[in-house]
Amino acid sequence: MRDILTMLLESEGFVVVAASDGREGIAWIERDIFDLIITDIKMPEVDGFGVLARAKELAPDTLVIMMTAFGTMESALEAMKLGAYDYIHKPFKIDEVRLIVDNALDKRRLKTEVSLLRESVKTTYVVENIVGKSEKMQQLLGLLPKVAANNSNVLITGESGTGKELVANALHNLSPRAPNNFVAINCASFPEGLLESEIFGHMKGSFTGAVQNKQGLFEIANGGTLFLDEIAEMPVNLQAKLLRAIETGTFRRVGGTSDIKVDVRIVAATNKDLTEECTKGNFREDLFFRLNVIPLHIPPLRERKEDIPLLVEHFMKKYSDRPRQFSGSAMSILTDYAWKGNVRELENMIERILLFTDNDAITASELPSELAATPQRTSMMPAMDQGTVDLEEILKDIEKKYLLEALTMTAGKKTEAAKLLGLSFRSFRHKLSKYGIK
Ligand SMILES: Nc1ncnc2c1ncn2[C@@H]1O[C@H](COP(=O)(O)OP(=O)(O)OP(=O)(O)O)[C@@H](O)[C@H]1O
Ligand SMILES: [Mg+2]
Repeated sequence: MRDILTMLLESEGFVVVAASDGREGIAWIERDIFDLIITDIKMPEVDGFGVLARAKELAPDTLVIMMTAFGTMESALEAMKLGAYDYIHKPFKIDEVRLIVDNALDKRRLKTEVSLLRESVKTTYVVENIVGKSEKMQQLLGLLPKVAANNSNVLITGESGTGKELVANALHNLSPRAPNNFVAINCASFPEGLLESEIFGHMKGSFTGAVQNKQGLFEIANGGTLFLDEIAEMPVNLQAKLLRAIETGTFRRVGGTSDIKVDVRIVAATNKDLTEECTKGNFREDLFFRLNVIPLHIPPLRERKEDIPLLVEHFMKKYSDRPRQFSGSAMSILTDYAWKGNVRELENMIERILLFTDNDAITASELPSELAATPQRTSMMPAMDQGTVDLEEILKDIEKKYLLEALTMTAGKKTEAAKLLGLSFRSFRHKLSKYGIK
């Protein structure tokens, strides 16, 4: 029957993979992404329900058609409740199969079109490559066009890696200043003297090494936006010069004698608390007020976990040349992780995972152990409202997390780790090799 179906579907122009039982079928599902799966219900070892559950977990858009023999009608209906698309009676007529498959794939095409459409409607989730659907990010994204249209200085605050530079760039691109330059400088990466000449330029001979006249970033940014990153690191002395430049719209090059007039919008950023820096005397309060006309705060990723799946998708598209996805349990590990380095850390992690695994569907066990080693017991249960869950897979993940945690806690001493888990050394070792933990 499998051969007949294969021949029939291939003659219709489909690319067909045939699996001789549920286990083999699941191996295919884990390795590739299919438009349609036709599976028998009764099979040795893993039955059609197992195949259905795995397919729904790894690729919820894949349509699953169950084949039922006389007397298993009830199971077919049960399967439909669990997300199967349709069922075929055995013995079947070729025309009947052809019709069901064609309809199913038509429906799938439509669904894809609708979701593409929906994506173009919900563009508010992405503004200038900034992804975010959490309430906090939605608020921020909504503000951007208004803030961009305005000429006031902006102070962006947020932890490292939250996207401060990305937001600064967006403010420029959305503003009437977009045709002119967006110039960024990191105040932490220059010693005091050099920072001044970078920002304001210098005249030949004004200091050793100034062998020619050089324009500063203020001039280069004329008509555009100057982004002063890590502004808290700017030496107090230079802060005074910056304040003067902002207040008068003019400045002097280092060693220069004439005032140069510019029209520059300043966007500054910091991961420090500037009011605190003011109290400590590290930052001029008057400059702080000049910069902080419009404060924009980007919350850390751990305060907007809803954004994580969206960001993961975004970076998968960025770093992968083919469609790939994370299993439900893998995604919940990514969502639960603390991400101290915020979006930058998440981005680097996704890039690394995509590089080190070849599978199109990435499961929890393929994630680097540092992600799994921070156990999040409260949220180990993926929600079932997104579709069916694979209990076997979830339990395996939990087991693996405990194994890793016990090893971490005992600094790799297996006998002690086994004791912690109430396992015999033999069975502990067996489990380690089962999960390939070295
Ligand atoms: N909301 C987001 N959507 C898409 N990409 C993002 C988002 N936030 C940050 N990124 C990406 O994360 C990386 C880090 O962002 P960015 O450099 O803007 O952070 P930062 O706050 O300036 O960090 P630092 O304080 O360390 O300089 C960049 O590659 C950026 O494109
Ligand atoms: Mg930055």
